[in-house]
Amino acid sequence: MTDRPGILITAPLLPQIETALDAAFPLHRLWEAPDRAAFLAEVGPGVRGLATAGYFGRVSEDLLCQLPALEIIASFGVGYDTIDTAAATAYGVVVTNTPGVLDDEVADLTVGLLLATIRQIPQAERFVREGQWLKGAFPFSASLRGRKVGILGLGAIGKAVARRLEGFGVEIAYHGRHRQADVPYAYHASPLELARAVDTLVVLTPGGAATQHLVNAEVIDALGPQGVLVNAARGSVLDQAALVAALREGRLLAAGLDVFAEEPCQPADLLALPQVVCLPHVGSATHKTRAEMGQLLVDNLTSWFAGTGPLTPVAESRALLAPA
Ligand code: 8YV
Repeated sequence: MTDRPGILITAPLLPQIETALDAAFPLHRLWEAPDRAAFLAEVGPGVRGLATAGYFGRVSEDLLCQLPALEIIASFGVGYDTIDTAAATAYGVVVTNTPGVLDDEVADLTVGLLLATIRQIPQAERFVREGQWLKGAFPFSASLRGRKVGILGLGAIGKAVARRLEGFGVEIAYHGRHRQADVPYAYHASPLELARAVDTLVVLTPGGAATQHLVNAEVIDALGPQGVLVNAARGSVLDQAALVAALREGRLLAAGLDVFAEEPCQPADLLALPQVVCLPHVGSATHKTRAEMGQLLVDNLTSWFAGTGPLTPVAESRALLAPA
């Protein structure tokens, strides 16, 4: 068949996603091209769909300009801050992500990271592994008991974290762009007000320009010297240098990070601090959930090219899809 829509893939996807896409569409793998400009000049005009993987495959206006027939960008992951959605909308290109299928998985990891950070679980495990227990007991840790937990960004994942934390008997508050009428948690009008009201902050906002350094030195200080910060959202939301300074100077107790300003990384300044738990961006990284995310990406493309619309368009694309 010659009329099948060409799909450009910007970065490697899971093998099963590429296999499923390969069965339905001619694929063009951008990262394999020795000369990107020549490759795009050759295949770009025939590309009608683009598959990308969150922060591994930035989609800039410059790339969009080279794909004049592009109709849809299907992104692997719920966060799509690496995609220029304003340019996509201007060019009439719909963007889809993979919400819903990863909420519980990321919430599980986030609560695990919170407990690991407060109770020093990785540190205690290393203590046994290194034979230090034979020389004496592991020092007491801080406690989750009696903590007030603030959730910054009460979307689907934030709510899944809050539901889990209800079971831990902690007080829960939140800040988001809007107060939500149907949630039982206290609302605070800004990140700073939230941080002042709690001692533990869990960051779950989208990334991008609108949330850049939302958690700054002032917000960190408001948590206080017993404060704990967990970031499972995007590294860009947190002023990482301010965090390092606060931890070094004892203005914050501990931090658990699944995301960083630059990724991948081996952040020497953070790793030098014993009260930090660092994970390699694994919020949704299980076989089960990554397979479901991949399937949703494939389903968005097949549904679009079958003429039945995108399954999970991002908010910015909805105007393109509204009936005229
Ligand atoms: C993935 C994520 O790490 O969904 C997101 O926004 O951050 C993660 O699930 C990412 O999509 C991998 O490309």
